Amino acid sequence: MLNREEIIDLRKNHLSPSLSMSYNSPLHIVKGNGQYLFDSDGKRYLDAVNNIQHVGHCHPKIVEAAEKQFKNLNTNTRYIDQTIVEYAKVLTNKLPEGLDVCFFTNSGSEANDLALRIARTITHSKETVVLDAGYHGNLSSLVEISPYKHDGPGGVGAPDFVHTISRPDKFRGKYRGHKCVDDYVNEVSSVIENIKLKKRTVSAFIVESLMGCGGQIVLPENFLKKSFELISNAGGLNIADEVQIGFGRMGSHYWGFETCDVIPDIVTVGKSMGNGHPLAAVITTTEIANKFNNGMEYFNSFGGNPVSCAIGNAVLNVIENERLQNNAFEVGNYLIKKLNQIEHHLIGEVRGSGLFIGIELIKDKKLLSPATMEAKAIENFMKDHGILISTDGPDHNVLKIKPPMVFNHENADELVYNLLSILNKNY
Ligand SMILES: Cc1ncc(COP(=O)(O)O)c(C=O)c1O
Repeated sequence: MLNREEIIDLRKNHLSPSLSMSYNSPLHIVKGNGQYLFDSDGKRYLDAVNNIQHVGHCHPKIVEAAEKQFKNLNTNTRYIDQTIVEYAKVLTNKLPEGLDVCFFTNSGSEANDLALRIARTITHSKETVVLDAGYHGNLSSLVEISPYKHDGPGGVGAPDFVHTISRPDKFRGKYRGHKCVDDYVNEVSSVIENIKLKKRTVSAFIVESLMGCGGQIVLPENFLKKSFELISNAGGLNIADEVQIGFGRMGSHYWGFETCDVIPDIVTVGKSMGNGHPLAAVITTTEIANKFNNGMEYFNSFGGNPVSCAIGNAVLNVIENERLQNNAFEVGNYLIKKLNQIEHHLIGEVRGSGLFIGIELIKDKKLLSPATMEAKAIENFMKDHGILISTDGPDHNVLKIKPPMVFNHENADELVYNLLSILNKNY
């Protein structure tokens, strides 16, 4: 067995230098179980950050489903296969009526790239509307539409076909407070007008209904409803990126877009869908899928293979059988309430839904300047206390909590207790 330093050395030599590691002193995790991770010294960590392992690390039902299918057969979507079509049926049954057709992919990025391709094929346009600080994936096509990337370090800004709406943040955004919704919606109107002035048409509006990398932003009420309507009226397609927030994580609803009372034309899913196995999908209507079917085939060597689908199906069953959406609702509400009870000058806002929570740290209540260094330090202190969280948002001052959905009340108490003692001891 290699020790930690030997692994870091090999990593330096053989993995891309563009890939960072979490925490000042990176973790050497060797085992996972439920909401817990264990390092090479046997130290236990409460995992409050890995939303990909949705139903818990190494859940036995997921391992069993993968092993059973892998032992028997793994091919691809060109063969008649009961596992694949049954999964597509059960998955689409979870979505509003009409969103019936799946295109399987291996990652959220592939799903969003395909969603753009579908929109561009149908609308004969590339004009894409996005939210500032949004992130939709690592492919070149997605860096182009992700301000989080193209306006961040190493980025070269947005191409001319990408139109960015100010981040609809009621707390620290361009427009603030409870009445700000129309200001953000007006930006969508203006963007559509500008596209028309250039004698072009809208292709797509891609959005997370609760922004993740953007800083756990709960969109102002009716923002999405009004914006979707404007985009539809202009002939564009609305794409809901559910890669981070889907599958019951919101607690009150199975999908993020349902919390905003909208029905998208296209939904993209990934991450939690395979509980760590690379599985993602685009889901849309029969009408859109048929229009996209212009002769150019969509085939994906691995996307939707029987092993992936067996795993995806097992994930859906565990969410249902262990009532994990309900758990996200109860534990999430409890945790948000407890976090809101913390009185500390660094805490600007606690927000989120279910088990997708953000704590925005600020330096002063008047200017709301971001407490970026403090957020980074707290993330590391929490790790030392055995609790894993992360930071995000354009100013990296938002503590992110998005644990496996088996996170329980005791875990919530442990997180709050440690956060409080770190805040009181250090600030
Ligand atoms: C909202 C959102 N969309 C898409 C992606 C890309 O997914 P993947 O990393 O599976 O390609 C991510 C990844 O973090 C994401 O947060």
